[in-house]
Amino acid sequence: MEQGKKTAPIGVFDSGVGGLTVVREIARQLPNENIVYFGDTARVPYGSKSKDTIIRFSEQIIRFLQGKNVKAIVIACNTASALALETVRDEFDVPILGVVIPGARAAVAATQNGEIGVVGTDATVKSGVYTRVIQELNPKLHVIEKACPLFVPLVEEGFKEHVVTKQIIEYYLESMKNTQIDAMILGCTHYPLLRSKIRAYLGEKIQIVNPAYETAMDLKQLLSEHDMANDGTTSLVSRYEFYVSDAAEKFVDFANTVMPFDISKANIVNIEEY
Ligand code: DGL
Repeated sequence: MEQGKKTAPIGVFDSGVGGLTVVREIARQLPNENIVYFGDTARVPYGSKSKDTIIRFSEQIIRFLQGKNVKAIVIACNTASALALETVRDEFDVPILGVVIPGARAAVAATQNGEIGVVGTDATVKSGVYTRVIQELNPKLHVIEKACPLFVPLVEEGFKEHVVTKQIIEYYLESMKNTQIDAMILGCTHYPLLRSKIRAYLGEKIQIVNPAYETAMDLKQLLSEHDMANDGTTSLVSRYEFYVSDAAEKFVDFANTVMPFDISKANIVNIEEY
């Protein structure tokens, strides 16, 4: 593949800041890659919206990212991966990865007793996609899914350390804690930002699975299969660009608490134009 294509960025998107947990992992595993991130901060949350709306939002963002000449796209949002991935893969001529299949695979590898929990948005849980993919991988496994819709605004509002977050974690996860599950997928990219609090509540006997690690591995494999990996010979410093649909300053402040490097700005995009 020609060099220009290899140095082209990876497009990554989410409804807001949650996808940064995936960017963080891509940056760790694929440090030579350039990234264009879009967070749909004007229209978050996706988890309470219909399939048609999530497909429309995803199509608009993919058109925007294609305008940035991305060589591949990672849908760093479980909700959009659950409801829009199949449709947009058929529609667009760019390799697109989601987070659900990697997350399911990681949980199947993690469980010892065959009991897996999944937490996610309303839309992801209603889609039943995690149960379907896990049971395609191993029909003997048992899956319990639970929607935790308040986790997303708690993260977006920076409420991690607030006492209400502890109470809401208990409220949602009490039933999960009282089952036999020994692995639980954080099936929403916002949730790893509450990981330490969730871990403190659940204790050590439940392994917490963050799909980001496996997603970055899949991306690495996809880039190598398509001979698209940036070997780093033409760009000395990896470049990251951040775009949002609203509230850029708030996004930058938040991003700087999550990412291991400084983010100086995020550009606003009128995504409805795409
Ligand atoms: N972070 C997204 C997900 O993984 C979406 C959360 C939301 O916008 O409701 O599902």
